Order: sequence, then structure tokens, then C-alpha cells
Amino acid sequence: MEQVSVAQRTPVRESEVASLNLGNCLSIALPKGRLLQPSLDALAEAGLQVPSMDEIDRRLIYTTGDGSMRFILARPADVPAYVEHGAADLGITGKDALLEGDWGVCELVDLGFGRCRLVVAALQGAIAPDGCGSEGAVCKLPLPRSGHTLRVATKFPAIARRHFALKRDLCVEIIKLNGAVEIAPIAGLSDVIVDIVDTGRTLADNGLVPIEEVAQLSARLIANRASLKLKSTVIHQIASALCDRSRSI
Ligand code: PRP
Repeated sequence: MEQVSVAQRTPVRESEVASLNLGNCLSIALPKGRLLQPSLDALAEAGLQVPSMDEIDRRLIYTTGDGSMRFILARPADVPAYVEHGAADLGITGKDALLEGDWGVCELVDLGFGRCRLVVAALQGAIAPDGCGSEGAVCKLPLPRSGHTLRVATKFPAIARRHFALKRDLCVEIIKLNGAVEIAPIAGLSDVIVDIVDTGRTLADNGLVPIEEVAQLSARLIANRASLKLKSTVIHQIASALCDRSRSI
């Protein structure tokens, strides 16, 4: 595969942003946070010369010296927006971000890293004993602390709403939080949470246990629909290399 040279990185001025995705420049939105390092590793192994973690500072756009490639650092949940609206040709983000929104993007590759689960979890002491419910998936849900409505705190209201909609006869209130969701049952804000479990340590440290799996997650490569046609050769080269790599993970 042809190597894309990133000889140097230069800050992008505001006036340049409007032309970010024009011409032959390939723009890739990358997720800040825990997926950033494995995303850079994957792109590097796919033949792209990406900035190293040491080079990354507070700037959010890194561009090649020849302007052929730009990397936009965004919140994982925002990566699909950059890609859908054409500010980025490609993006890497978690499957959770894709499931949560109704995005007009193409999902190209399961990248094989960032594997974790989205689960329903509750305080250990609140879990209903096995056999209390009418069906296996419901029987461990705790009894609502107030009234007959099960309160669900989550960063993923759309996913949670879809998950609980499958449970007939269960009245659910979804409470949208932006982080540190594990606090909600402890503070009495919710009966359960729907959240990501990676190592399981955050749940355990807060006395919570997973009671249902909602989805299995991993990092995905996504593409802008128009870019997929207009820049098909380079995008398919990158996607193919990342696909080969993911099979070996
Ligand atoms: C995520 C997730 C859990 C935690 C799970 O939060 O929402 O809180 O990681 O990881 P673990 O199973 O390895 O403990 P994140 O670190 O992204 O922070 P946030 O809660 O502020 O969103």
C-alpha cells in the first residue's frame, strides 16, 4: 500500500477549516480518550504515518506538511457527526456511538480493538432473587425503589430505550447522564444503569453487578457516503488494510 507521508504537523488556522475536506486531502476523525492510542496504532500498521501520542498536545487537528491528510481529534460520540456531515471522510469510534445515534454514515470495518460490553447493572443488594420474574432476562432486575417505574440512568438513552422497549409490562424512565453513571444507584437517582463495562473494575468498586448484556462493542471504521465514492481508492486501501489487521487481533 502506498504510504501517506506525514512529514510534519502544523496547526490549522480557522480560515483553513472550510477547505478541510476538499480536493485530494483525506480527513480522518479520531476518538479522544482510551480509543486514541489503539486507533493511531491501527492506522500506522495500515501504512499511514500518524502522529505519535508524544506529539499530541491540546490541539485538535493535525495535518501533514503536504496537506494530503488531516486528523481531527473529537469526542468518540461526536466522531459520527464529523463523518456524516463531511467534515471528515473517515472516522474511528466505538460501536456504542453508532448505536446511540441515527447516523447517515457507512460502517466499514470492525477494528477488533476497544472490545467491551454495554450492560444493565444494579447494586448487588438490590438484585431480585432468581426466579422472581416472568422471564429469564427480567427476573434479576431490582424492584423499583419508588412507584412502579424502573429508573434507568445512562449515557446512552436511545440504546437503553430500545433495550427496555423489548420488555413488555415494564414501565421505564430513562435518565440521561453524561458520565460517572455508576453513582446514580448509590445516590438513589436510579434503580439500574446502562453503561459500558471494560475491565469491570468501576462496577465492582461501586458495589454494582452486571445483570443483563445489552450489546457487545468494539471500535469501528466509518466513512462519509460521498467520500466513499469520490475517494474510493484510498478509502478501500485503508479499510482493506485495517480489515486484514483486525482479523489477526
Ligand atoms: C467508562 C464507562 C465506565 C468505565 C468502565 O467510563 O462509562 O464508567 O469506563 O470501565 P471499566 O469496566 O474498565 O472500569 P469512562 O472512563 O469513559 O468515563 P465516564 O464515566 O466519565 O464517561
